[in-house]
Amino acid sequence: MSGESVLEVKNLRTSFFTDDGEVAAVDDIDFYINKGEILGVVGESGCGKSVTSLSIMGLVPSPPGKIVGGEILYKGEDLTKASEKRMRQIRGNDITMIFQEPMTSLNPLFTIGNQIMETIRLHNKWNKQQVKERAIEILQMVGLPRAEELLNEYPHQLSGGMRQRVMIAMAMVCNPQLLIADEPTTALDVTIQAQILKLMKKLNHDYQTAIMMITHDLGVVAEVCQRVVVMYAGKVVEEGDIATIYKSPKHPYTVGLIKSVPDMRKKVDRLYSIPGNVPKPGSIKEGCRFAARCEHAFDRCFTETPELYQTGEGQKVRCFLYEQQGGVSK
Ligand SMILES: Nc1ncnc2c1ncn2[C@@H]1O[C@H](COP(=O)(O)OP(=O)(O)O)[C@@H](O)[C@H]1O
Ligand code: SF4
Ligand SMILES: [Mg+2]
Repeated sequence: MSGESVLEVKNLRTSFFTDDGEVAAVDDIDFYINKGEILGVVGESGCGKSVTSLSIMGLVPSPPGKIVGGEILYKGEDLTKASEKRMRQIRGNDITMIFQEPMTSLNPLFTIGNQIMETIRLHNKWNKQQVKERAIEILQMVGLPRAEELLNEYPHQLSGGMRQRVMIAMAMVCNPQLLIADEPTTALDVTIQAQILKLMKKLNHDYQTAIMMITHDLGVVAEVCQRVVVMYAGKVVEEGDIATIYKSPKHPYTVGLIKSVPDMRKKVDRLYSIPGNVPKPGSIKEGCRFAARCEHAFDRCFTETPELYQTGEGQKVRCFLYEQQGGVSK
């Protein structure tokens, strides 16, 4: 680990208890986020990204879900052991989250002003005028024009991009140490997506807020992140700094993800996508979870589970092809 971490996830395992028994959606993952950095967490739908973020926030739906192992250390405090009261404090002051579809987080019945001022009031004992001034200031901070008028408008009167800016504003009210953004631009068109990513980069720069950027799109990660963790079927399969991974991806899954990023300079009829699907959690009992989709798979891949190996270039890769390059990293 380099720098001082704001969050360390160690051997985290989060399961759902279904008719088929215990199903580990997040299966023994480790990663860390340094103070003030933007970490990308990337993987296709169903790889366990959202369950990871809900685990950090203490919001795994329970039942059927439960954190069954590991630690989530926020500045050294293990959040898996924190009380619900403590987690509410953490969510209000330290770690905040934004989601793909802001409409599900904004209440359609209340004005933007009502909602943002309520959030501000939770953090300050200010009078009405001060709260209003802060609301305007924070809406301006996220690049929303005519902030004062916006206070009186309802969520449906705003575009998707504006709603996401409002959500970011609300998440930034308390000046959090860590902002978890779960597919924040997936529902937006490309131009708006670029603007929101630029805003998040600016907030990270201006306020040193660490950001965990969750996405299925490695293009988004390349745009904003310094480091990346690639998840596949509940496991971390590759980790490293983004420049190295983009230039020299190692895990066959990461190679496939990079091939699927649209290249603006090349005109292609159809975008590449990795053949096959992410296996359901718990459906693969032995071997590498990517084996059924991997063009490099050999016999051993179907019977033994690869460890996370350290490569020469400072990446960690869960693939037998890199076993010889360095030691097991944990
Ligand atoms: N409420 C739930 N009940 C049962 N299984 C769930 C639930 N939520 C998620 N899962 C399981 O966890 C897996 C990972 O989900 P998720 O973290 O949402 O993936 P991602 O965010 O990477 O698309 C899913 O494939 C699903 O099997
Ligand atoms: S361990 Fe085998 S199946 Fe898994 S990614 Fe590497 S080569 Fe492919
Ligand atoms: Mg998700």
